[in-house]
Amino acid sequence: MPPSLMPAPPVDLADEPRQFALLVNSVTDYAIYMLDAEGYVRTWNPGGIRIKGYQPEQVIGTHFSRFYTEEEARAGVPQRNLHTAAAEGRFSADGWRVRRDGTHFMASVVIDPIWSGDALIGFAKITRDISERFESEQRLQAAQQALYQSQKLEAIGLLTLGLAHDFNNLLTVVINSLDVIGGRTDDPRTTRVLETAMRAADRGVLLTRQLLTFGRGQALVAESLDINALLVANRELLARAATELVDLGFELAPGLPKVEIDRGQFEASILNLVSNSRDAMPRGGRIRVSTSARRVRLPAEPAGDERLFVCTEVCDNGCGIAPDDQSRVFEPFFTTKDVGRGSGLGLSQVFGFASQSGGFTELTSTPGGGTTVAIYLPACENP
Ligand SMILES: Nc1ncnc2c1ncn2[C@@H]1O[C@H](COP(=O)(O)OP(=O)(O)O)[C@@H](O)[C@H]1O
Ligand SMILES: [Mg+2]
Repeated sequence: MPPSLMPAPPVDLADEPRQFALLVNSVTDYAIYMLDAEGYVRTWNPGGIRIKGYQPEQVIGTHFSRFYTEEEARAGVPQRNLHTAAAEGRFSADGWRVRRDGTHFMASVVIDPIWSGDALIGFAKITRDISERFESEQRLQAAQQALYQSQKLEAIGLLTLGLAHDFNNLLTVVINSLDVIGGRTDDPRTTRVLETAMRAADRGVLLTRQLLTFGRGQALVAESLDINALLVANRELLARAATELVDLGFELAPGLPKVEIDRGQFEASILNLVSNSRDAMPRGGRIRVSTSARRVRLPAEPAGDERLFVCTEVCDNGCGIAPDDQSRVFEPFFTTKDVGRGSGLGLSQVFGFASQSGGFTELTSTPGGGTTVAIYLPACENP
């Protein structure tokens, strides 16, 4: 029988070091290896090959700080961790580590000191790749945040809707009464006072209409529309709103499906977004209005099916929005602008229009880096 076909010699159960080596060398889910007291790699196992991408000959004898990100290595984190392990009997933490190919992964790391009598002779190190768990936790958190956000706006919307309806009814009575008084007087002074009252009432009507939009109580007139054509038709209006300080550009994906929406509300939404971007760039900047077709889930139904949406994004490189404000900007009357400059009703109109049309809005913003607001509108199934 050729030697390669000979059965492997049975492991001697009394041979402890050999059993241990067999155990460590069959583990592929954990990188298990030893460091000397200074942090140089002494042994390597298949888990190390799989997780970190180094063959034993590429890594044994080199310093383990190569697994850390450059910033952490420069800040002395690897040495500090060995020190903690030696001083406290163990170091364990989750953190970013670097593979041989330079990619990062989220690692769960344990370092145990190895003593021989009183002398520290090295460290045992176990690293597990927990990127998948980490990413799914991140996704879950983002979904919970989105759900919370949409439930909060839903609640504010209901409250607003009730108020706006009552207000509308009251204003109708006020306006009718002013009309009646106007018909019964020739006194110019009374007429002037009446006109002032009428203007105030009209402003109240406008305001309640905006609130109705946010609360999704505005009657929408839906028609089947091509968003790209609508944007092109509004190009000049948007350019005027952006002012000449701003470079306004369009990136429109061809062949988009149609959407069933209210034309006026869509135009108002885009105008609101462009105006917000302009306000965020008092010394000028860049605004991109782009469209695309995307298959996604409704944030309010994270377990639901993916559906096709037409996404319109307005992206600027303005001042961005502070993290604390990001969850509030869609609320009616939330504004960071001076009195008279902002009503705080722009984004709530965008939100109300998108959700009443069966879609949703999405905000991404980096303070100092810029803001993107996306409006997702359900695509018509039969174009
Ligand atoms: N593109 C943007 N860049 C920076 N901040 C923004 C942007 N869009 C909205 N915001 C913030 O959100 C707030 C609310 O916006 P909005 O509802 O349109 O009300 P208003 O513009 O009247 O303040 C703004 O006051 C501003 O702080
Ligand atoms: Mg605004």
